[in-house]
Amino acid sequence: MAKRILSGVQPSGTMTLGNYIGALRQFVKLQEEEDCFFCIVDYHAMTLPRNVENLKENIRKLAATYLAVGIDPKKATLFIQSDVSAHLELGWIMTCHSYMGELERMTQFKEKSKEDESIPTGLFTYPALQAADIVLYNATHVPVGEDQKQHIELTRNIAQRMNNKFDQELFVIPDPLINEVGGRVMSLTDPTSKMSKSNPNENSYISLLDEPKRIEKKIKRAVTDSENHIRFDPEEKPAVSNLLSIYALITDQPMSAVEAHFEGKGYGALKGELAEVVVDQLSPIQERYEYYYHSEELDRILRDGAEKASTVANATLRRVKDALGVGI
Ligand code: TYM
Repeated sequence: MAKRILSGVQPSGTMTLGNYIGALRQFVKLQEEEDCFFCIVDYHAMTLPRNVENLKENIRKLAATYLAVGIDPKKATLFIQSDVSAHLELGWIMTCHSYMGELERMTQFKEKSKEDESIPTGLFTYPALQAADIVLYNATHVPVGEDQKQHIELTRNIAQRMNNKFDQELFVIPDPLINEVGGRVMSLTDPTSKMSKSNPNENSYISLLDEPKRIEKKIKRAVTDSENHIRFDPEEKPAVSNLLSIYALITDQPMSAVEAHFEGKGYGALKGELAEVVVDQLSPIQERYEYYYHSEELDRILRDGAEKASTVANATLRRVKDALGVGI
């Protein structure tokens, strides 16, 4: 039987090569075989005040990006979270079944709450909404990058807790799908932190919409390790290993083949070839992005997607409300 897939991305600005490799590329492959739902999680983006500006434009940008990387609305359901009201309803119910202690342990909350003096409550309760996003669609698998693993574990815990409490299989318990290589693409300027669009240093990440010259420049400037010898060794050579991982994933090759290819070559060669393959992969995506961003087709796809998503989500919400004994 096909797996039921659900995943989401925040419309918080431009997508990075990290989002692409860790998440979007997996989505495109999964839609061929599995029953997929992909969401633009706009209510999640709202948890950081800086994301509220330009939200409308960022939602459109992300929708165009999903389509440009190859999400096909004939194969997968693409929709905006706020168009399916069941997310907020079940989100509240999941919040009431989660504990302060488990939410306090969330690494993402700890990291993101450092950024502002006033921490919005939504930033704290957000993983319970994410849990609702997932279980509403009876998802068996959730493709994400490594940084989301803890949120999927929390989803499993809350869902299991509610199944036990109501003594029925209210929710499917989902498994994360994380790429072994590429689950955590690191910053180009500091290989100990993950590549992220919220990093103020723009040289630390490649945006999916960066022009070829900019991509070349950023990769050329990427930090490397001492000794000009190319070897995949994330412990000893984290910077070069990060570049090698990106190369392996973009070219769809096993690491052993990539290491053999660069045997005896220097860092200059690695950077030059890496820039070339990244530009080759992103150029057609950027062209399609322009098309979708300006097309009315995009609005239609999102409207159809919301309708399909609502049917599935509302059935789950009905089941939960009945179990809780709320509503008519
Ligand atoms: P977000 O929007 O921060 O990131 C979207 C996806 O990109 C992955 N990712 C990375 N993967 C590898 N290397 C990186 N450097 C990197 N940076 C980001 C993320 O792991 C993610 O898969 N809370 C989620 C959105 C969400 C969601 C959901 C995901 C809301 N509801 C339900 C799955 C299921 C988030 O903020 O992702």
